[in-house]
Amino acid sequence: QPRTVAVVVGSLRKDSVSRKVAKAFAALAPKNLKFDFVEIGDLPHFDQDLESDPPAQWTAFRNRVSAADAVLFVTPEYNRSVPGVLKNAIDVGSRPYGASAWNAKPGAVISVSPGGIGGFGANHHLRQSLAFLNVPLLSQEAYVGNAFALFDETGELVNESTTEFLRGYAHAFAEWVERIAGDTVERKA
Ligand code: FNR
Repeated sequence: QPRTVAVVVGSLRKDSVSRKVAKAFAALAPKNLKFDFVEIGDLPHFDQDLESDPPAQWTAFRNRVSAADAVLFVTPEYNRSVPGVLKNAIDVGSRPYGASAWNAKPGAVISVSPGGIGGFGANHHLRQSLAFLNVPLLSQEAYVGNAFALFDETGELVNESTTEFLRGYAHAFAEWVERIAGDTVERKA
């Protein structure tokens, strides 16, 4: 059964290595998963004063996430935490209160860094927010370290062990999505 995965990348820069990892993951995933890269760079800063008349970008973002069966976060680490632009997107998607777009969507987190720690701080801060938002996360963790060395100049993933890791992670994620989304469909029926 086809399942749509909303992909949120926590970096806005054109040459983002996190985006390269997200694209490699999508290419290696089982074919029943369809990936919708949802952009977050044009979302106005979250402001409760705007909630009664929300910006069109907020509404479009919430609708895209709501329409998906699952969510995948691929993010760099900024100062041992989540980039502000990604936290903003999470906050925008979480509102209005009681109608969060994230609620009950099966999810996974991949953190990416040119360093050796693989974005551990960002990964776990993100997991903390997603636990609060009732996103059932694939518990298997994914840290992609030394990330600049993994891609060639055309942006292609050329490291064999990372390729095999991402392939395995994508298959585990597909099974997780099926388990959670399938169960949700059954309970609704
Ligand atoms: C960084 N970087 C970084 N890296 C890391 O492993 N841990 C960290 O805490 C930080 N902190 C940090 C703060 C800020 C403000 C910037 C701009 C950068 C480096 C970061 O991993 C590097 O710039 C990556 O290339 C960012 O990911 P993208 O944009 O390539 O996906």
